[in-house]
Amino acid sequence: MGGGIGQWLLFRAADRSLSLFSLVVPPGAATPIHDHLAWGLVGLYAGTQDEEIYAQAEGRLDLLERRALRPGDFYALLPPRDDIHRVQTTSDTTSVSIHLLTNDTGCVWRHAYEPESGEARPFRSGWVNVDCDHAVESLSGST
Ligand SMILES: [Fe+2]
Repeated sequence: MGGGIGQWLLFRAADRSLSLFSLVVPPGAATPIHDHLAWGLVGLYAGTQDEEIYAQAEGRLDLLERRALRPGDFYALLPPRDDIHRVQTTSDTTSVSIHLLTNDTGCVWRHAYEPESGEARPFRSGWVNVDCDHAVESLSGST
C-alpha cells in the first residue's frame, strides 16, 4: 500500500473465503481510499486511527463519516455501504488493527479511488508474509 503500511496474514480459510490479518500503519501514514468487496469486522489493537467512509457518486467521492478510533474500538464493513474507506494513523506510534474479512483480502483484485475525481483503479494490496500464489499450508511453515 506504500508508506510503510503492511498487511500481515494470520489465518486464511482453505477455500479463501475468510482471512484474518493485521494492518500495520506507521505514524502519519494513510491507506489509499479502497474497497473490500466483502463484509468484515475490524478492531483496533494499538495506536489511534481515523477512519473515513466514502460513497462513490457521479464523478466524485462523498465523505459520509469520519470516526476516531482508540484501542478496543471495532466496526463492521457492510457492502455496499461502509465498503469504501481510508484508514490513517493519528498516534505518534504505529497503529495495529485486526481485520476479519470474508474473502482473501490481500490477494483479490479490488479498487482504490482517486480522492478528487472518485475514479476507481484496480488494486491488490498483497500480504507482507505470504505470496498470493503460495498454498495455504505455507502459513504454518510447511511446504
Ligand atoms: Fe480497509
